[in-house]
Amino acid sequence: MSERVIPLVDQRVAALTAPRPTQPVPATGLLGDALGRPLRDLRISVTDRCNFRCNYCMPKEVFDKDYPYLPHSALLTFEEITRLARQFIAHGVQKIRLTGGEPLLRKNIEVLIDQLAALRTVDGEPLDITLTTNGSLLARKARALKDAGLRRVTVSLDGLDDAVFRRMNDVDFPVADVLEGIAAARAAGLGPVKVNMVVKRGTNEHEILPMARHFRGSGVVLRFIEYMDVGATNGWRMDEVLPSADVVQIIRTELPLVPLEHTATGETAERWGYAGADGRHDPALGEIGVISSVTQAFCRDCNRARLSTEGRLYLCLFASNGYDLRSLLRGGADDTAIASAIGAIWQGRSDRYSEQRASLPPDAGTGARRVEMSYIGG
Ligand code: GTP
Ligand code: 5AD
Ligand code: SF4
Ligand code: SF4
Repeated sequence: MSERVIPLVDQRVAALTAPRPTQPVPATGLLGDALGRPLRDLRISVTDRCNFRCNYCMPKEVFDKDYPYLPHSALLTFEEITRLARQFIAHGVQKIRLTGGEPLLRKNIEVLIDQLAALRTVDGEPLDITLTTNGSLLARKARALKDAGLRRVTVSLDGLDDAVFRRMNDVDFPVADVLEGIAAARAAGLGPVKVNMVVKRGTNEHEILPMARHFRGSGVVLRFIEYMDVGATNGWRMDEVLPSADVVQIIRTELPLVPLEHTATGETAERWGYAGADGRHDPALGEIGVISSVTQAFCRDCNRARLSTEGRLYLCLFASNGYDLRSLLRGGADDTAIASAIGAIWQGRSDRYSEQRASLPPDAGTGARRVEMSYIGG
């Protein structure tokens, strides 16, 4: 077995103090960051634990039985999460994604969903509430999640070949159970269900076509994600990235595709529709998406904020530090102070890591100081 050195710097120790602006930053729903980007999408991590050990996210060598997960007292309570979410929404958030770790491991998650579902956007609309899951507990929980107010789910699945998938999740979890979870989500009305497949060259690129064939015409939107240099523990290497352009090419050799328009600004995925016999998109065959954060960065319209399990606000997936909002909550700050802090932090945001990656020095790619994706969520 080859050994590799995994730099482990626990970024959770370092938090940035949330500002307390002397002038309130009013929550008008029109907030913009330093590059003019609005705040629309809030991704909330509800646990830093997961029952999988995907090697690109929580490699076993690091996330072992001695790994210092957050203690229960450090976690934001559902009331704290909802209180913060209300202030983010006042600044323009329209979509909330619950993530982890594995969010369905958080006890009574449907209670949180129920609380969030009662909130309204600045335009008085219900929120788009969604959740990213590995699917392992979905068959059991889909119905309760839907009843609580969840709109849809995204399920991670890296291949259909059982041996390949078991190796990638590294806990010997079978494909069949995830497929059962996807079926339960669809039956419960949690659609359109999206399936995210992280593509690693040399590991699962031969699963691209079987996955495309399987989900074509099924109503599930399959998305291929370029393996990213996120976190500090996955030993990322550029030669393991299969560019999305190659993914599209591979699929096109067998299943004709036509490009589709973006549906929303700031969208991560580039959409491709399956073509029918007339060469035009056939909606019955559905579509795929490719997410190219390595080869074609999409920072220009990035409207995503991330709230960690312990209440730190991260402005980028590749950030090293987050702003400590929990101290504000637990220090007795009122809603105006919390909204002002969030507003001031967002106004100062100029992060665009993926766009800058190409011009960074080569050793910046080791990412020894970046926070883990299992901690701030995908
Ligand atoms: P939908 O509204 O369902 O389309 O969600 P989404 O497009 O936000 O997608 P999702 O949360 O499923 O994200 C898919 C993958 O894209 C994640 O697992 C990440 O790998 C990647 N991703 C999502 N957001 C970002 C981001 O802000 N920056 C980068 N670099 N990658 C991202
Ligand atoms: N590169 C790309 N996507 C990743 N995810 C986790 N780690 C990585 C990585 N290194 C994404 C997967 C998974 C979601 C929870 O996070 O899409 O579905
Ligand atoms: Fe768990 Fe998802 Fe990370 Fe895999 S990618 S280890 S399922 S959080
Ligand atoms: Fe947004 Fe950072 Fe991702 Fe760019 S790299 S899209 S700024 S989260």
